[in-house]
Amino acid sequence: MPIAGIYGPEDFGNPPHGPAAVPRRNPTARAAARAAEPVLPMPSLEWTPEVERATAHLYERVRAVISPVEWPLMAPYVKAINELKQQRDAVILAHNYQTPEIFHCIADIGGDSLQLAIEATKVKSGIIVQCGVHFMAETSKLLNPEKTVLIPDSRAGCSLASSITGADVRLLRMRFPGVPVVAYVNTSADVKAEVDICCTSSNAVEVVESLNAPTVIFLPDQYLAKYVASKTSVKIIAWKGACEVHERFTGDELRAYREADPSVQIIAHPECPPDVLAEADFTGSTAHMIKWVRDKRPRRLVMITECSMADNVRAELPDVEIVQPCNLCPHMKRITLPNILDSLLTLREEVTIDPSIADKARRSVERMINLKN
Ligand code: 13P
Ligand code: SF4
Repeated sequence: MPIAGIYGPEDFGNPPHGPAAVPRRNPTARAAARAAEPVLPMPSLEWTPEVERATAHLYERVRAVISPVEWPLMAPYVKAINELKQQRDAVILAHNYQTPEIFHCIADIGGDSLQLAIEATKVKSGIIVQCGVHFMAETSKLLNPEKTVLIPDSRAGCSLASSITGADVRLLRMRFPGVPVVAYVNTSADVKAEVDICCTSSNAVEVVESLNAPTVIFLPDQYLAKYVASKTSVKIIAWKGACEVHERFTGDELRAYREADPSVQIIAHPECPPDVLAEADFTGSTAHMIKWVRDKRPRRLVMITECSMADNVRAELPDVEIVQPCNLCPHMKRITLPNILDSLLTLREEVTIDPSIADKARRSVERMINLKN
C-alpha cells in the first residue's frame, strides 16, 4: 500500500541535517590503547619477487578487474596487511561495496550489512577492522563491547545515517504515540537506542511484519520504506532520508539500457526510487543481488547499485558481462589499503560508543539478529 506519510526535521520546526558529525575517537581511550599496544614500524612497501610470489594466489582472485600494471602498487600493502592481521590478532570485515583488492585480498569476512552484523557476533579475535562506513563499525562495536573496533577513516559516513538523530526519533514518537519504530541499520547508535528494532535491506519486510502492528514508523530511508510498503499491508510512516548513491539512478536510465539490449537483465537495490525498481527484473540487498547473479548467471547484466560491488562480482564471475553505471559511494571509498595498513600499525581510529546509549542500541540490533536466527 502507499506509505502513510514522509516526515523530516522541518516537520518538527528544525532545519534539515547537514553531513553527519561522525564521533571522533575519545582522546583518553586513544592514549590508553596506544600505551598498551605500541605503534608498529612501517613495513617495506617495495614490489619485490618475494612480494610477487607471496601474493600470486590473491592476484588470481582479482585478475579480471585489476590490471598487471596496478597490482605491483597494491600487492606490497596486501602482503603487509595480511601479516599484520596475524601479528595484531585482528580480523577484517568488509562490506560488498569495498574495492576488489580489499574485498577479495585482505578481508576475512565480506558481505552485506546483515551478514556483517551476524558475523560480528562470532568474532574471536581481539581487534576488528571494519572496512565499510561508520555505522557498520558502530554495529560491530555494539555487538563486541569488549573488543577493539577500528575504522581506517572515521569520516566514512552515510547520507542516510546523517539524515536523522535520536532527538528526531523522540519527536516522531510524540507525534505517533504507541507506533513501533524500525530503524534501518544505516543509522547512528544514538538513533538505534531510540527505536524498537533494526533492519537491513535483506530483512526489512520480515522485521516490519514481525511487530504485528497495523502501522510502523520506518526510518530513515524513504525509498526503502516505499519498497517495504509495496510488499506488506502494514501502514508505513517514513522519514525523508535517502542514499546519495542510489537516489541518483532514474527509470529513464534503466529503460535506455533495455532499449539498447532487450535481453539484458537488470537488478537493483531497494534504496533506489520506485520508478527505478519498477524497471528492474530483481530487487534485493547486496547479498541477495550477488546470490541472484550466482544462481542465474545472466549473459549481460546491469547492476544498479554502488560501482565496486559490480567489480567484486566481475572478479568472481568473469563470464557475466556486467554493465556498471559507476555511482561510487564517497564514504565507502574513504577506506583504502594505505589507511587500513595505518589502522593496523597505529590502532586508529578506535570506535567508541557512549555507554548511556550503547545498551539500548545493542538491544535493537540483537532483536533483529535473533529474529533472523
Ligand atoms: P546492504 O549491503 O545491506 O544491502 O546495504 C547496502 C548499503 O548501502 C550499505 O550501506
Ligand atoms: Fe550510505 Fe548509500 Fe553509501 Fe551505503 S551507499 S554507505 S547507504 S551513502
